[in-house]
Formats: sequence, C-alpha cells, structure tokens
Amino acid sequence: MEDRLEQLRVLREAAQLGGGAQRIAQQHARGKLTARERLALLLDPGSFQELGALARHGISDFGLAAERYPGDGVVTGFGKINERRVAVYAQDFTILGGSFSEVQAQKITRLMDLAMESGIPIIGLNDSGGARIQEGVRSLAAYGEVFARNVLSSGIVPQISVILGPCAGGAVYSPALTDFVIMARDIGYMFLTGPEVVRAVSGREVTVQQLGGADIHHQRSGVAHLVADDERGALDLVKALLSYLPQNNTDDPPHLLPSDSPERMAPVLNSIVPEDERIGYDMHTVVAQLVDEASFLELQPAYAANVLIGFARLDGYPVGIVANNPAVLAGALDIDSSDKIARFVRICDAYNLPVITLVDCPGYLPGIEQEYGGVIRHGAKIIYAYAGATVPKISVVLRKAIGGAYIALSSKQMRCDLNFAWPTAQIAVMGAEGAARVLWREELKQAADPIALERQLIAEYRERFFNPYHAADLGQIDEIIEPAETRPRLIRGLEILRTKVQQNPPRKHGLYPS
Ligand code: HXC
Repeated sequence: MEDRLEQLRVLREAAQLGGGAQRIAQQHARGKLTARERLALLLDPGSFQELGALARHGISDFGLAAERYPGDGVVTGFGKINERRVAVYAQDFTILGGSFSEVQAQKITRLMDLAMESGIPIIGLNDSGGARIQEGVRSLAAYGEVFARNVLSSGIVPQISVILGPCAGGAVYSPALTDFVIMARDIGYMFLTGPEVVRAVSGREVTVQQLGGADIHHQRSGVAHLVADDERGALDLVKALLSYLPQNNTDDPPHLLPSDSPERMAPVLNSIVPEDERIGYDMHTVVAQLVDEASFLELQPAYAANVLIGFARLDGYPVGIVANNPAVLAGALDIDSSDKIARFVRICDAYNLPVITLVDCPGYLPGIEQEYGGVIRHGAKIIYAYAGATVPKISVVLRKAIGGAYIALSSKQMRCDLNFAWPTAQIAVMGAEGAARVLWREELKQAADPIALERQLIAEYRERFFNPYHAADLGQIDEIIEPAETRPRLIRGLEILRTKVQQNPPRKHGLYPS
C-alpha cells in the first residue's frame, strides 16, 4: 500500500508542476502567472476539487510521444468563489503552449456537462496557442465539442471567459459564445488570424496587441466586456461579475444586505438636466445617484459610449441598467449601441435581473454610414430584446424620448411594467425643427416672414409635445416623478414586481434580427 501511495504522491506532484520548473520560469518571465497560481487567486482557499489531473494525451500522437505531461495543458475542477460553487478550467501554457487537444476537450466538456446538470457557473481562463497542431483534425473536433456546449449552456448557467494569454484562430469562438469576456491588458490577445497572415493578405504591419489586445477589443470591436490592468485585476472582475449573477437561470440573483437607504433622495438630480436641450450631461452621475452606493459595474464602458449598460444593486437586489449617455453623440442610438443594449437586455432576461432603462435619446442616428451598415436590422434587436424579455422592466424618461427610440427603449408596448418620466421629459414623434418643416411646408413657403413663423410653429410644437403630460394623459407614462425621488420610486416598483410571472408564446425559437 505504501508503494501505491508513494506512486500517487509522485504523480500528483508532477501534475502540480505542469510543464516543469523551467517552463514555469519562462511563463513568469513572460509576465504571466501559471494556471494553478491563477486558480489560487480566483478561488476560496482550499475549495478546489480537481478532476482529470492525471489525464495525458495518447502515446501514438505525431511528434508528441516523448512529452506526456499530466493534465495535458489544462487544469479543470470545481471550487468556490465567495462560498458559491463554480466550475473552472485554466489552460496551462507551460504544457505544449496550452495547445488545445482531444484530452483537454474531454476534461473541459466533462466539467461543463457536470456544471450544466448541477446549475453551476462556468469560468474559463484562456492561455493557449490554439489547436494542437500535432493532433490534426482531432484537436479541431475537440474545439467543436466545447463550442457546442457553450451554445447549449447559453442562458442556463453564466459563462465567463478570461483571456490571460494567446487566444487565436477558431479558439476565439468559445469565449465569443460565452456571456462575458474579460481581458488582461498587455498579456491577453484575441484574433482570428495573426499579424503574419494580416501582413500577407493586406501588407499591413500590426503587433499582436494592436491587432487583438485588450484595448482594441474594449474600445473598437466590442468583444471584451471588461478589461483589467493585470491578471489579478481580471480575476477580481470575475468575482465582481458573479456577485450580480444567479447560479443558473432557475435561481434568483444574490441579494446583499444594502448599505444604502432605500428612501434616500437625490436632490442633485433635480438640476441635472440642463435648461438648454442641446447641452449634454453625463448619465454616469445619474446612475451613481440612483443605485446603491458604489454598486454600478459598467460593462463595455469604452465601446459605444453613447449608451451605458451594467449591473448595479437597488436595496441590495441586483438589476441591469441601460441608459443613453447624452454626453456622447447626444445619447443617440446607432449600430454598435443597439447591439450593446440588445445583448445586455437578453443577458438580464436570461438570468432573472430586472432591467431599469434611463431614457434621454434624440432617436436613431441619421446617416449614410449607419444605413449602409444595417442600422435597421441592428436597431431592431433592441425592440426584439425588450419586447421578448419577461423580467421586471421599469423605465424613466429623463429628457428626450423621440420617435423610434421612444418605442424601442422600454415603452409600454415593449411590455415595460412601470413607465416613469421626469417633468423635463420630451416625448414626440420627431424633433421640433424637423416637424415644423414637414407639417407646415406650404405655410412657411408662402409666409411673409418665414423665419418668424417657423419660430412660432416650433414653439407651439414644443409646448404641445415637449413635456411628459401628453403621454401621461394617454396612459403611456404611469407617473411623472420628481427626479430627486427616483431611487425610492424604483425600489418600490421593483418590490411590487418581484413576484412577476410572464410567459412568451411556446415556440422552438424566434428569429433574432442580426
Ligand atoms: C502545439 C504549440 C502550439 C500549438 C504553441 N505550441 N502553440 N504546440 N500546437 N498550437 C508550443 C510551442 O511549440 C512551444 O513549444 C510552446 O508551445 C510555447 O510556445 P512559444 O511559441 O515558445 O511561445 P510564445 O513565443 O509565447 O508564442 C506563443 C504563440 C506561438 C504566439 C501562441 O506559440 C504560436 O504562434 N503558436 C501557434 C499558434 C497557431 O497558429 N495555432 C493554431 C491556430 S488555428 P516548445 O517545446 O518549443 O517550448 C486554430 C484553429 C482552431 O487554433 C479552430 C477551431 C475551430
């Protein structure tokens, strides 16, 4: 028996060392932690239950027979984060560059299957040179096994991908299929084809970071939802994100004891909307005043900044926040912001988070580029997401809610439960100048003083429509509230809606505009 135990100890020690001391030193020299060091930072101490530590690749693999490392380039298992169970896999770059193999896929898919059956979130730490070249089609099929599970788990258990090294080629599609992508600056990068292929096909020179670094995916492509300066920061973001999410789609998001009074008024909001409607203001200030103190976790802050999305708490209960930001592009909706909002609303709906929408939007952004880029089909996604969402929905019109944006952004017809407006709200089919020109074209043409007449007509139009009372009169707005009392009104509204049950018609699935 002692021999057997000794053999087990030796094997376990070997597994702990991954690709060996020298490759661990190389990993550190690259400025990266090892898979096990990352898991130690991510998980509650002593909570990790490893599975598959001794799995190795087949002995007949081309060019690999001499190097059979226990674990085969990925550490997999279950652990806890703040005492809640999680399934985790961490690719181990010290073993064959973390390259993706059949055995890796077997380990990861086994983990995903167990996580799905037990309703546990799945977290993947990516650091891999892509499909293991020596395994040929077997490593490609291996990716396919994971992709399919990413799809089948979607909306059932939260899936979070953290990019802590290379993630290239078809490998990018696993993170892209998960709910959230977090990248560590300088060490993480993602692209379909690397700088050499780009040079060959286009003659353009780019570094890996310029092509697929954290800032690119944060600011331009929208692939990364959150970015941290280093990998510790990235792992902390995983913990922060999970604090808003339920374990699975049948669970409620975690309630934390609130540190902020539900009755707290925010008098500063009474003067936040500038008198001059052409002047913007930063919606972050409004959000910070409304939600529990310091509870807003903004997602994709640098991408399509004309809207902001993120998780927050109201009286300790997690909610999703969607808001136009009048400080950027006047808060207008465009292609990218439509995608950003729509996906986020669907995430909230999948994981039982109420959606709070703060509206100050002059409409969809006009322009040739937007039309050619398909703003019609992208903009439709917002409607699809809101109308299909069955979670509690509350909207507040702060200022402009013009045209299609009024309808799309959580109007009553989008099955919004409670519609509030501030006294500064302007709810109309179109802006005053445009409306005057369309409605009174002939009169203006024939007027002795067309400028004076236009001014007068615009003033009349504003008087009629640029207030919330017409909409309240028609029941489209439930209540006009003082800005300062918005927080308690939202909290009371959510309390009413906490037991809301709403069903969509049964069908295989709808056809999402894309
Ligand atoms: C096998 C690999 C490997 C791979 C790296 N290694 N990638 N082994 N298959 N895909 C090995 C290296 O040979 C090396 O082994 C060790 O891992 C560390 O790699 P280095 O190159 O020394 O590290 P670094 O300089 O940091 O460069 C990292 C890298 C580079 C940029 C990722 O390794 C690289 O370009 N790898 C190939 C990337 C690639 O083209 N992958 C296929 C993508 S296509 P030794 O023993 O020398 O230390 C794909 C299709 C998926 O993934 C489709 C799914 C549908």
